[in-house]
Amino acid sequence: MYNLDNDIEKILFSQDVLKKRCKELGEELSEIYKDSCPIVTGVLKGASVFFADLVRELKCDLVFDFITVSSYGLKTTSSGVINMRKDFDNDITGKDILIVEDIVDSGFTLKYLKNLLYERKANSVRTVALLNKYECHPRELDTDFYGFKIENEFVVGYGLDYAGRYRNLPYVGILKRSVYEKKDEK
Ligand code: IMP
Ligand code: MG
Repeated sequence: MYNLDNDIEKILFSQDVLKKRCKELGEELSEIYKDSCPIVTGVLKGASVFFADLVRELKCDLVFDFITVSSYGLKTTSSGVINMRKDFDNDITGKDILIVEDIVDSGFTLKYLKNLLYERKANSVRTVALLNKYECHPRELDTDFYGFKIENEFVVGYGLDYAGRYRNLPYVGILKRSVYEKKDEK
């Protein structure tokens, strides 16, 4: 059997640490949405694991939605061009939206989504990302809430992938460069 753990340079956030942070974010967001019924929207596929843990810590009334956007392809750096490949199922007009993302890198994805939702006349749009590569984007493209700040390293696990793989690792870890350097040159 292929051992995914062998491709990890270093574990950054263990299962326990991730669980604890989800609980804290859940408490903060439950308070914010205590009088509304937000559309909590997971950005597939990367946010799926974080979404599942976070929503179970949200005590307020809410509905789910999922969208798919892509900017990366098979590489480890953003192309900057965002494609919406699966749109919202819900009508956004007048609604409070909480976008759940795995990671903010360049910030283009969240900027694109916020602009789109305000064009569609959402009442409010907030974003929560598990990870924040805070040195990689200008402050105005930052997320409203996040789990952890990280350095500019390529990370996988807990939903985050490289070329579709490693999402099932229960922790977040830095991927060994040797795994992707050769493939990214192509
Ligand atoms: P942004 O538009 O550059 O902020 O990119 C955000 C998207 O890029 C995230 O939703 C991830 O899918 C992907 N991404 C950015 N950094 C990483 C990483 O270190 N590991 C895995 N995916 C990443
Ligand atoms: Mg993503």
